[in-house]
Amino acid sequence: MKKTVRDVDVQGRRVLVRVDFNVPLSEDGKVADDTRIKAALPTIRYLVDHGARVILASHLGRPKGKPEERYSLAPVAERLGELLDAKVRQAGDCIGPEVASAVDKLGAGEVLLLENVRFHAEEKENKESFARQLASLADLYVNDAFGTAHRAHASTAGVAAFLPAVAGFLMEKELAMLGKLLADPQRPFTAIVGGAKISDKIGVLQSLMQKADVLMIGGAMANTFLAAQGHDLSRSLVEQDKLDLARQLMAQSEKARAELLLPVDLVAAPDKDAPGERETVGLDQVPEGWMAFDIGGRTLDLYEERIKTSKTIFWNGPMGMFEVPGFDSGTLGVAQAVAESGATSVIGGGDTVAAVKKAGVAEKITHISTGGGAALKFVEGKELPGVAALQDR
Ligand code: 3PG
Repeated sequence: MKKTVRDVDVQGRRVLVRVDFNVPLSEDGKVADDTRIKAALPTIRYLVDHGARVILASHLGRPKGKPEERYSLAPVAERLGELLDAKVRQAGDCIGPEVASAVDKLGAGEVLLLENVRFHAEEKENKESFARQLASLADLYVNDAFGTAHRAHASTAGVAAFLPAVAGFLMEKELAMLGKLLADPQRPFTAIVGGAKISDKIGVLQSLMQKADVLMIGGAMANTFLAAQGHDLSRSLVEQDKLDLARQLMAQSEKARAELLLPVDLVAAPDKDAPGERETVGLDQVPEGWMAFDIGGRTLDLYEERIKTSKTIFWNGPMGMFEVPGFDSGTLGVAQAVAESGATSVIGGGDTVAAVKKAGVAEKITHISTGGGAALKFVEGKELPGVAALQDR
């Protein structure tokens, strides 16, 4: 168990809070989805209410180590101010004398948002000198950026060497929900993994094979498994250089706890722009030159049956190209089934979150993780650098 903000005195102290405000922006530069900002509010409000001088740090996007206007956190400051119904001060940088003076002027219960930490190459390099400069702004460090906890960067890990370091409430909740999933799931425990590539998810597949009772696969990664079994999928997306890996994973699953379920039929079309011509076909019946874009109806039935009787569900990755109407039945069907199952359900990853929102069932999911990569690394059983750096209780 990690210490949290509840375990330390924050009154009047300068508290540097690493948040994950890496949010999508719209064309006109406004925050397009404020889920991650809202998720950090409990920690920010607690600190404000307890008289801390709150200094928020985050990255946004992937700038190349120098300032770029389009990655400025200014739109986030505006949205955060609306949500907090309070003034959020903005700094033009995240280190340096001007930032230090802005912090000096910060009163108890006031909030300052630093500029994008990735405007300095030293952030991702986890340079000690940069971490020291960040630390010099504060008396205490709080990490609430679960979504970035898999990165060993200066603001997520390095800074903790120079300040007392504790978890925020979002971090605490994410670790509790995901931790329970792995340590003590109510069974049957069903894991649903989709998305394009096996190569992105080898570790998580291996881990879930041991932890879950059922592991169901969808999305283009299912094609690679099916091709490795010898099925002809015509022009479907298949990772040709991962067929051996898929065979190894299937061999491992023979001896593992979880039963591995693969699609038994597919929705195919001549092209992704031609959903109107789609047909549901058997595994070796993808018409010449066509591609698979979704799991078929029989597969969905099969998966729904198993989801219905589950007590715990973890889901990452869509079942097909769900952003295209016509190729979304598998993903939306799985989302509905998960929502109606009554199981403790945990989902992670931007696409999967978008899918449950599109299906209109987000409210029925027990825990929607704010981490994509971080949640996968955690489920893989890897220690997250941003968590390891925090003090134990
Ligand atoms: C995310 O969106 O997954 C996190 O904010 C981490 O961002 P990154 O992949 O650019 O490190």
